Amino acid sequence: MTTRTDQRYRAGATAADIQAHYDVGKDFYALWLDPDLTYSCALWEGITGPPGDADLLMRAQHAKLRYHLGQAGLTAGSRLLDIGCGWGSLLRMATEETGVRQAVGLTLSADQYAHVRSLGLNGADVRVEDWRDHEADGPYDGIVSIGAFEHFTDQSMSRDERIGTYRAFFGRCAGWLPPLGRLSLQTIVLTDDTNHDESVPDFFAREIFPGSALPRLSEIAAACEPYFAITRLREDGADYARTLRGWSTRLFQAREQAQLLVGPDAYMRYRTYLRASEIVFMRQASALYRITLRRWPARRGPAGTSARQILPE
Ligand SMILES: C[S@@+](CC[C@H](N)C(=O)[O-])C[C@H]1O[C@@H](n2cnc3c(N)ncnc32)[C@H](O)[C@@H]1O
Repeated sequence: MTTRTDQRYRAGATAADIQAHYDVGKDFYALWLDPDLTYSCALWEGITGPPGDADLLMRAQHAKLRYHLGQAGLTAGSRLLDIGCGWGSLLRMATEETGVRQAVGLTLSADQYAHVRSLGLNGADVRVEDWRDHEADGPYDGIVSIGAFEHFTDQSMSRDERIGTYRAFFGRCAGWLPPLGRLSLQTIVLTDDTNHDESVPDFFAREIFPGSALPRLSEIAAACEPYFAITRLREDGADYARTLRGWSTRLFQAREQAQLLVGPDAYMRYRTYLRASEIVFMRQASALYRITLRRWPARRGPAGTSARQILPE
């Protein structure tokens, strides 16, 4: 459980903000997510057919999870940290398919924690813990973080404050990895030529994701530079539009049950959010990045280090 929060940099979404969104109940999300409850953009490469089909959606989600495990360099016997583990789909794939020896998952949602525990995954350890408070009991071989970065800052923060928080995140991740260890990060970003109505981000911050704000790619690049090389970057906004279309189709198909579970207002709020998000990605007012980061080698010195100092003897 969260015991300490470092005050040197500001937090974005608090546990209460996260629970306001995620703890409306797993049964509601189960109506429209895939059977493994992955709640982030899927990877549709090579998969055709209607995105609302549960099997296709699950295949595309599994492709995404495999992609990140591979990018983070995880293989049988390794140790994984999953920052923002949701309902545990990556933990499950890592332990059951990849053969990861230990998979630690962090979430701020009590509902997600209870669900992951109920899966009884061998080698998985889920915690209700903010990454700011995480103390690793040894280095991880790889770190994955999918769809959590969007919660780390809020709309009231300046660009410098956001970069400070992101830099703290990358610094912590680098500290948990060996030199050349990899972090595979997936996040939505606001594009620089944002042309959508300002009321869209306001609606999201007010009604859907309190305490959260989207990063810009330049902020991520500036924040990670002291700790990581970006070795791969792919933009898959079209994949997010497709995932969102799948989710909203499925939610519409399950509308009667959904309204019984969460009430008509919450149902409409989610429908609006999923449809609006799809349009945002279709217009490319937001982008979806999958970013592979590799920790700098240990011999890399701080700025100003001479070539002689860092060259091998
Ligand atoms: C959109 S969900 C994505 C879940 C999962 N990665 C997936 O793809 O299904 C975001 C996750 O990030 C977690 N999260 C947000 N802020 C966090 C923080 N500061 N520390 C740890 N987890 C956080 C939430 O609790 C939630 O599990």
